[in-house]
Amino acid sequence: MIAQEGLAAMLALSPVVPVLTIDDAGHAVPLARALLAGGIGVVEVTLRTEAALGAIAAMVAEVPAMLVGAGTVLTADQYRAVEMAGAKFVVSPGSSAGVLDAAARSKIPFLPGAATPTEVLALLELGYRLQKFFPAEPAGGISMLKAIGAPIAEVRFCPTGGIGLGNAPDYLALANVMCVGGSWLTPAEAMRAGDWQRIAVLAAEAAELNLRRRPRN
Ligand code: 3PG
Repeated sequence: MIAQEGLAAMLALSPVVPVLTIDDAGHAVPLARALLAGGIGVVEVTLRTEAALGAIAAMVAEVPAMLVGAGTVLTADQYRAVEMAGAKFVVSPGSSAGVLDAAARSKIPFLPGAATPTEVLALLELGYRLQKFFPAEPAGGISMLKAIGAPIAEVRFCPTGGIGLGNAPDYLALANVMCVGGSWLTPAEAMRAGDWQRIAVLAAEAAELNLRRRPRN
């Protein structure tokens, strides 16, 4: 049984899920607080750095109001490790057999990545109605999502890759997009400098995208 139970409600918390790459676990708590101060209550911490697991654990322990997911989960071992660290959901750029198996055995939901109709259908066959569309811009962006949505209307996406404040509203206007992901809220130089005020401002701009969404029927 494939569990995406609870995932739609988690991703509905924010129009934008910041994709975080954290080099220093000591940054995790002030960063989560800055994003929360700006109105963003859900994040994806990528497993691209040594600090990632510690950052997840620190955020979960010290910033309980932030919903912390793990991203760039490429193996079954990583899936288990992020679950142990306290992540509440898992994101992958694709969907390997090993990660799908780990997801099926896990208590935390999985957002697998897809970029083509065949990949989308393979995941749908396993029960995944929520998918990450990655890499969004190189894979065809808005026109690709519209084209996939015509025949495969039951899958909703969180597109990520090449999205920023400028094009996010156009993605969020699509019927098959429930949120977007992106790293633009956490510029590398602001992270290095610990410029949490700047990140809070970028978060506030992103959180406002919700207000500009078209009403859904
Ligand atoms: C991801 O990990 O989902 C993407 O690499 C984030 O893409 P971006 O840096 O273009 O926002």
